[in-house]
Amino acid sequence: MQTIYTDVLVVGAGLAGERAAIEAAEAGFSAICLSLVPSRRSHSSAAMGGMQAAMGNCAKGEGDCPDVHFADTVKGSDWGCDQEVARMFADRAPIEMRQLAYWGVPWGRVVPGKGTYYKGGKLYDKEEKEENRGLINSRDFGGTAKWRTCYVSDGTGHSVLYTIDNVCAKLGVEVHDKTESISLIHDGVTCFGAVARCLRTGELRVYLAKATVIATGGFGRIYPGTTNAVICDGGGHITALNTGVVPMGNMEAVQFHPTGIVPTEILVTEGCRGDGGTLLDVNEERFMHVYEPEKQELASRDVVARWMTHHIRQGKGVKSPYGDHLWLDIRHLGEKHITGKLREVYEICTSFLGVDPIHQLIPVRPTHHYSMGGVRTNKDGKAYGLSGLFSVGEASCWDMHGFNRLGGNSLAETVVAGGIVGKKIAEFLQGAEVTFNSSVIDAEVKKQQERIQNVISCKAGTENVFKVRTAMQDALFKGANIFRTKEGLEECVATLQDTLARARKVGLKSNGKGVNPELSAALKIEGQVKMALMLSVGALNRTESRGSHNREDYPARNDRDWLTRTLAYWKNENDDMPTLAYEAATEIFHIPPGDRGYGKSEIIKADTKAEEKG
Ligand code: FUM
Repeated sequence: MQTIYTDVLVVGAGLAGERAAIEAAEAGFSAICLSLVPSRRSHSSAAMGGMQAAMGNCAKGEGDCPDVHFADTVKGSDWGCDQEVARMFADRAPIEMRQLAYWGVPWGRVVPGKGTYYKGGKLYDKEEKEENRGLINSRDFGGTAKWRTCYVSDGTGHSVLYTIDNVCAKLGVEVHDKTESISLIHDGVTCFGAVARCLRTGELRVYLAKATVIATGGFGRIYPGTTNAVICDGGGHITALNTGVVPMGNMEAVQFHPTGIVPTEILVTEGCRGDGGTLLDVNEERFMHVYEPEKQELASRDVVARWMTHHIRQGKGVKSPYGDHLWLDIRHLGEKHITGKLREVYEICTSFLGVDPIHQLIPVRPTHHYSMGGVRTNKDGKAYGLSGLFSVGEASCWDMHGFNRLGGNSLAETVVAGGIVGKKIAEFLQGAEVTFNSSVIDAEVKKQQERIQNVISCKAGTENVFKVRTAMQDALFKGANIFRTKEGLEECVATLQDTLARARKVGLKSNGKGVNPELSAALKIEGQVKMALMLSVGALNRTESRGSHNREDYPARNDRDWLTRTLAYWKNENDDMPTLAYEAATEIFHIPPGDRGYGKSEIIKADTKAEEKG
């Protein structure tokens, strides 16, 4: 068995993981990133519209500052975030944007002079100042007081990932791709690294590290439809929850993006609406201004996704063989804008839909997009429960997003948090001595070898992993979607418990240990169902509506009882249910709970009652 030593083992080679690795490498430590795919194929590359940072360079961003960004983030989170973390993030974001520029990110830049822009389908004038010529530009995004989203056309993630990956290469950060971490090596107190599986040959390898970082992104693939890539399957989370001592935070906080295209659910960026695109219904009429007179299409995502779903429920959706949808209209932005600042949208629409967005409407509906929850960490990115374990980016619950993340705040979080947590890791490593306990390592390797052998030889049963996965996805789609109720969540939990029993009896049709998607899926299905249970039990317990967690039977936010963060543990491997605990959402209230300024869920309740009465 090959054993590889490194100071820092980063599981994941997307933006957050690589940015953290850069800090460690710059401080003189060795770092290895494990990745399912070549690093430049990480899901960060799919992030389109941009990164929020209060640069205040463009005309519509004038007067912006970290205070305003912080306030928008807290309101966006529906007061569910850790305000100290959000504060740290907002302060650091502009510095990080300039750091990225220094490393070579070709940001969109301010061009002085008179110009126009669309908002709510209407054309307005703006004038960019000469003194701001060439400074980093920003576009408008939802739930923000200012234009704050720094962008590289609509391929921001792609561009930043290539840049950061180059810096990693220059600093000697190794990326071991086609390699999957399947368990953490730990003694219940300290994490020593991971057991990983080579996805080419199936061989196991031991990675021993003084610091291990989970940076595997989101877990959207536990839902049937999502903007997430197939690699966003919760692999990193599963290794953490399987320790029994590391909790997941706020798993019920799930984001649905307003504009997934129908039927493939691929993202078209919020930048479309930020740049002036509008949402239309079956009559090709705008509707968001009726529900949200102030912010309209640019309220926060949870709010827009809810109103879109509500509008479809009112019979205003467009019928299609793939279910009802609405339209996104960007035609008025014109060819130059669409093939320039929205060029990926143009390519996605033409390639995957056969729709030309310069002349045609784009079929869209809300679809799963982001997980606010994840491996619970403190402000330094240290995971609860195990020394030497860290987490960063979407994989983590740091927690700057609370119950709703603002568009553009996660891509910014990857690099801002990556920088902050990477520095903390370097501090942790200074003088750190770890004794790797060989009996702990050997026991973990044996356990994983047996697990693989058991599933290949169908020791526990012959349940088909893909059918079990579909059962899990359908249960979540039905019960833990944009609107939730006690009955729906109870049914979801019951179905998932049955699904967990089935997941424990999965056996393979194929027996290849190397390139074998069935084996990869089988090794994580039990963990995925456990995550789905953490999510749905957390949602069932939380008897309020906050951000993206919308309970139709509890439509109001309840700050008296629920200004809390859910911690979900899977204490014993063979348990059938998670154990939940709660902690205060924030210790310091820079901004006390108040009105977000958008998103009145009571209106939905009133309308729903009217519908029920018929
Ligand atoms: O719509 C988008 O471009 C997505 C951005 C985000 O999720 O932050």
